[in-house]
Amino acid sequence: MKTRVLTGITTTGTPHLGNYVGAIRPAVLAAEDPNVDAFFFLADYHALIKCEDPARIAKSRLEIAATWLAAGLNPDRTHFYRQSDIPEIPELCWILTCVTGKGLMNRAHAYKAAVDANRDKGVEDDDGVTMGLFSYPILMAADILMFNAHKVPVGRDQVQHLEMARDIAARFNHSYDAATEPWFVMPEAVIGDESAVLPGLDGRKMSKSYNNTIPLFEGGSKAIKTAVARIVTDSLEPGQPKDPFASNLLPLYQAVASPAQSQAYIKALQEGLGWGEAKAQLVQAIEAQVGGMRERYQSLMARPDDIEDILQSGAKKARATAAPFMAQLRSAVGLGSGVSAQVDKAVKSKHKGPKLVQFKDAAGEFRFRLLDQQNQTLLVSLPHANPKNAGALIGKIKSQSGEVKVVDQANDGYQVLLDGELVATAEPGLSAEQLAWRVQAVAAALQELGD
Ligand code: TRP
Repeated sequence: MKTRVLTGITTTGTPHLGNYVGAIRPAVLAAEDPNVDAFFFLADYHALIKCEDPARIAKSRLEIAATWLAAGLNPDRTHFYRQSDIPEIPELCWILTCVTGKGLMNRAHAYKAAVDANRDKGVEDDDGVTMGLFSYPILMAADILMFNAHKVPVGRDQVQHLEMARDIAARFNHSYDAATEPWFVMPEAVIGDESAVLPGLDGRKMSKSYNNTIPLFEGGSKAIKTAVARIVTDSLEPGQPKDPFASNLLPLYQAVASPAQSQAYIKALQEGLGWGEAKAQLVQAIEAQVGGMRERYQSLMARPDDIEDILQSGAKKARATAAPFMAQLRSAVGLGSGVSAQVDKAVKSKHKGPKLVQFKDAAGEFRFRLLDQQNQTLLVSLPHANPKNAGALIGKIKSQSGEVKVVDQANDGYQVLLDGELVATAEPGLSAEQLAWRVQAVAAALQELGD
């Protein structure tokens, strides 16, 4: 089986050079590997968590799709789709939400950062925190587990989310038996190489939130020139030797030029190349890398219907994997339909249901217990002097050859009757609440035993 590589891009912004060098270029390259089955998608449901401006979301979806295609992503050889076109993802998200501890989400960095910021401001911990932000990692787990991705290329800030996806997967695998393999494989984070993180105009990591980016396509070559002009340098004059390794220009140049060109650039700076000229050479090198892509980008952006078609067929391809898997998962949790009855059966044959087990009590008499899935006692039978009698009752209950009735006697507990004969009563000392629960649990477990 090929290695499934999956990553999502939140659709709130317009890609810049840092996104291209750090994420898009390596991803497109990785997808060329014949042993890789790539899933790249626009995380537009995630975008709603950060942004309530529909125009911005819509624009960003289009721009990001066009950027990836212009950067050489081959939609025929990969799965390239929008998260919101795959209804199985939010469906899985809910099922995973039901096995995810709230405590796990309390520990998420993004949520904790929001709480810390609120404390600093002296407002309520959860001020402005939506359930979307709080359970963000579960949606991300659904993105990944829906396709059983093996490798997930992400930034360092996303590593915790991958750990959570593994926790959630393990929890589900543990709760729900599968016919053969566990339902979910454990996804692994692949952290981009640190040198692929571009510095921005001010030397900090290039990021939209620092307003220090070099645009990729937006604004054309003119915008690249303007941005490069803003790069901070020291005040050495042309002719004075410079330390290339202390400048913000070199890592940018290296990201877009060949090693030989980079060597020449280093030498020229050491020999006194002026910052103005060095910036002009950087603009040229960026232009050489992105100029051709920009033309493809513009022609794609002029045909949004074509982009839509590509994404629709990507969604269709992704759903061909997601839909049948989702049907199995639905069955696994007990929401199967007639169509997946066969899967239901396969699953049930391995399902750890309730059990009846015989034992000898302290008085040397024979009884049986009804245990639930977690091996908790639901019921203890009346004693029998002869183990065969106890065994016969077990057999009768299991084979459903007799009628089992649970008679609720309200605050006096309950009785379990088999063909009208008393086989068990509630043990003394249970609270009214426990009794009410027991009556239901015993009835459900007996029912399941017979199924
Ligand atoms: N949370 C990721 C980010 O902000 C985007 C994302 C959403 C993602 N779903 C994903 C990344 C699944 C990898 C896998 O960068």
